[in-house]
Amino acid sequence: MWFAMSKKPVDQRGAESLQHSSVLAVRLTIMVKSAVQVRLATRDDMLRPHSDAQAHRSITATIPAAAGTNQLAAPTSSTTVVDPVTFIDLFAGLGGFHVALDKLGATCVFAAEWEPDLQALYEKNFGIRPEGDITKVNLSAIPPHTILCAGFPCQPFSKSGKQLGFEHTEQGELFFNVIDILRALRPQCFILENVPNLLKHDDGRTFARIERELRGLGYNIRHEKLSPHQFTIPQIRERVYIVGTLGDMSRFAWPKTSDEPTSIKTILGDDGGKALPPRVLEALHVWGEFLERSKQSEDRELPSFPIWGMEFGATYPYKGPTPWQLVRTGRIKELRSTKGTLGHPLRNLGTSDILSALPSHARREQTEFPKWKQTFIRQNREFYARNREWIDPWLPKIQDFPSSFQKLEWNAHGEERDIWQYVIQVRASGVRVKRQTTAPSLIAMTDTQVPIIGWEQRYMTPAECARLQSLESIAMPESPSKAFKALGNAVNSEVVRRIVASLLATIETKSTPSTRGRRDDGH
Ligand SMILES: C[S@@+](CC[C@H](N)C(=O)[O-])C[C@H]1O[C@@H](n2cnc3c(N)ncnc32)[C@H](O)[C@@H]1O
Repeated sequence: MWFAMSKKPVDQRGAESLQHSSVLAVRLTIMVKSAVQVRLATRDDMLRPHSDAQAHRSITATIPAAAGTNQLAAPTSSTTVVDPVTFIDLFAGLGGFHVALDKLGATCVFAAEWEPDLQALYEKNFGIRPEGDITKVNLSAIPPHTILCAGFPCQPFSKSGKQLGFEHTEQGELFFNVIDILRALRPQCFILENVPNLLKHDDGRTFARIERELRGLGYNIRHEKLSPHQFTIPQIRERVYIVGTLGDMSRFAWPKTSDEPTSIKTILGDDGGKALPPRVLEALHVWGEFLERSKQSEDRELPSFPIWGMEFGATYPYKGPTPWQLVRTGRIKELRSTKGTLGHPLRNLGTSDILSALPSHARREQTEFPKWKQTFIRQNREFYARNREWIDPWLPKIQDFPSSFQKLEWNAHGEERDIWQYVIQVRASGVRVKRQTTAPSLIAMTDTQVPIIGWEQRYMTPAECARLQSLESIAMPESPSKAFKALGNAVNSEVVRRIVASLLATIETKSTPSTRGRRDDGH
């Protein structure tokens, strides 16, 4: 039996004291008599014949960590021996899993990440250099471990991607690399993370396949959607977590969530942030004026659907064949009698110009618009018809802005209509305005999508975004663009820490060589 190195008595063992420990350096033997006794093994002990170690091994190991507890609990008198908890970090990125498991006293024995900059940063932060492309790693190079961690790339399943799932060339297959590792090394448990759309993808068939594969390897599994804001961290970032163990899952409980209100102000620093470029400032002032004018509306509330300014005044057909389909099938005349973006007449336009005079969401090469798009277009046109009086004088002000600035998502219903009091994010889907309670979900964003602190008229800093991901304890990429991108891909380490603390409670092994760290691939 091996403990991660700690010279403190077991019951004083804190998470920090176990950080950066070396499993191999010191062997801690726990012997059970009437009470738990602890002694540090000497070098001689370590060299003792195998049978001695086997005597210790036959004792059942239990880690009594309760759901939501902060650290691995120390062994109680009924607890006899705890194996060292080791983990591997696949698709390691910034190391969100690593930070979490480090805090729980576990030791990383292998990591994989193919971005060279992130590899170097991982080594700087954690002292272990990740291997590269996981599809090229030989299974025999992966050491036995207790927990496999993998936030496998989400593009194949994310709503913003093309959702090709397992058919997604290369990336979609990465889940099966995880399966190969689980099959070969049979770690006691695993934690996987992905976007929540994974559950719905291909009408649930993708997730059913994932469950089948994992259960087929003998794992008991659970899944749950969780977000940092449920643990008092001011970021809404729902992710699906899948955990599995070879042991009994009945002792596993998801960490307890909280309804406590959060405030983004708790993670803001005073290190300043990039000022808003004039164009962004101007666009936000224009929407600020829209909000001010909207107070004249007879509608008590602003729409809960996205406000698509470019639909104001448009009359092109959106039910039945799309404009693209009309052009394609020689029915362009039907378009010419209508109006495009912001009410511009399509009358005299030729085939090539007519589609460019439509909103970008109406130019897609599709024969019919999906129902949700038809609904948004109808709702916007109805809203405009009811409110033309105060919208018309304002409308020309947005005409020169790119499409993303012509749309507004107002997520502060019932609150004061002052854009500068809120957290703002300029997304491809529009200018999103949110209450001060939470930051929007960080995405692997371009610099222009970094959340804006409205009342300070600036972007958030990488350090602040790191706090949203509970990754403030590690170094970030030097380039802010790279930091924002990596943070948008990362897992929130505090959510992981709480889940894994609970997962470790399920570990109960007769820690014989046949169950722990056994390889099925002959190694
Ligand atoms: C969703 S992110 C996971 C981020 C990580 N959990 C964190 O906390 O930062 C996926 C990561 O996998 C890496 N990746 C993608 N394909 C890979 C492959 N074939 N081999 C190794 N790493 C890969 C990407 O570069 C990216 O950093």
